[in-house]
Parts: sequence; C-alpha cells; structure tokens
Amino acid sequence: MNKKIVAVSIYVFNFLEIGKKLEQLTNSGVNWIHLDIMDGIFVNNYALCQKFCSDIREKYKDIKIDIHMMCVESYKYIDSFSKAGANYFNFHYESITDKSPQHINEIIQKIKNSGMKPIMALNPETSVNQIEKYLSLLDGIMCMNILPGFNGQKLIPESYEKIKNLKDIREKKSLNYFIMTDGGAREDTYSQICESGADVIVVGAFVNVEENKIKEQVDKIQKFKNK
Ligand code: DX5
Ligand code: ZN
Repeated sequence: MNKKIVAVSIYVFNFLEIGKKLEQLTNSGVNWIHLDIMDGIFVNNYALCQKFCSDIREKYKDIKIDIHMMCVESYKYIDSFSKAGANYFNFHYESITDKSPQHINEIIQKIKNSGMKPIMALNPETSVNQIEKYLSLLDGIMCMNILPGFNGQKLIPESYEKIKNLKDIREKKSLNYFIMTDGGAREDTYSQICESGADVIVVGAFVNVEENKIKEQVDKIQKFKNK
C-alpha cells in the first residue's frame, strides 16, 4: 500500500442522510466504508446489521466494506456477512471466548473460506504479544485508539507505540498485513497516526463536515506517503 487509505465509519452520520453522505464520500475519493456492528453485549451499544451492508453493496459494487464486529462470538456471523457482500471481516480478539490457537486459526480459516479477508481488532488493553502468532495469517490488524462502542472519544496516546510496534514486527518478519486504526482521528492526532505507520485509517468525526470540506479532510490523510 503506497497511499494511506481512508475508511469511513458511517455510523457517525445522521441516519436520515446516509444515502446522500455516501454519494459525497465516494465523490471525494473514499472507496472504503467501515461498518460498526454492535450487539449491545460486547459493547454497551447497538449498531447496524447485515441488511445495511447488503443495501450498500447493491448500490456500490466496487467499494470496499469492512465490518467491525463488536459482538460476542462474532464468528457466528461470517456466512451472513459474506452473503451481504462484505470484503473484510474485522473481528475482536477479545470477543472470542475460546482463545485456543486452534479455535482462532479455525475462525481465520473460516473467514478466508467464505471469500472475505480477515482483520483482527485489538482493544487498547490487548497487547501485540498476545496475538503476534496470528499476524502471518491475517490480511490486516486493527488497533483501537479508543474503547469500542461509541464514537466521539479521545485517542488513547499509547496507541501510537502499538502501531509502531506492529510496523516493526511486519518489517522484521517480512510479513504483509496492513495496519488499520480506529477512533480518535482529529486535527491534532491524524498526522501522528499516519506517521506511526497506520495504512488504513478509520475516521468518523474527521469527515463529518460540510459537503465542500470532505475532500479536503480525505486529502489530508491521503497525502501521507508510506515509508
Ligand atoms: C467506535 C467505532 C468507531 C467510531 C469512530 O466503537 O468503532 O469506528 O465510529 O469514530 P471517530 O472517528 O469519530 O472517533
Ligand atoms: Zn469501528
């Protein structure tokens, strides 16, 4: 990936305006939509579902969709989201009760068999050490810069180190996963998120601006070169 990728969390928008927003975003160079799926148990909030994903897929055939599964035992929904047209199944390590390597490997394999690509999401308290053995099997790893469940939170500064660590490991071991981050991208944080080594940056509030300012916001992130 030589260009930073902006993935937009559409949960932050007024739901009555989502159709219009999707038009504005795609016209502004966004080609990755991040869908926050919440079950009210893994996080204390509810959001979005398979139908929402398939409705977007029906209209936007080429857009990338990652589904951020903030749900307990989220592997139960692999087939239904694959049918709904998601490209990336983005599941929380913490959401899996049976964390035996055999089970985690099976989940990753099931995602691949479904035709989607696996991304593993990590809560701020989960260390890279805990999941390092899976990095070679994943397409992406997502570092939560905030606690999952609600938008509009401040980035936890320790996230920068975690992103760098993921980048170092990738280099040292010659691996290929992309590094994604979610939450807290603001005017005073986006540069450091990019410079720390994030390849795909999930943004909500950052692009929740007037129509004629969206492209400017997207460009701010896309202008960063990957080193
Ligand atoms: C929170 C979600 C995020 C969130 C990002 O649980 O995973 O995707 O919507 O919102 P911002 O970018 O506004 O922090
Ligand atoms: Zn998210």
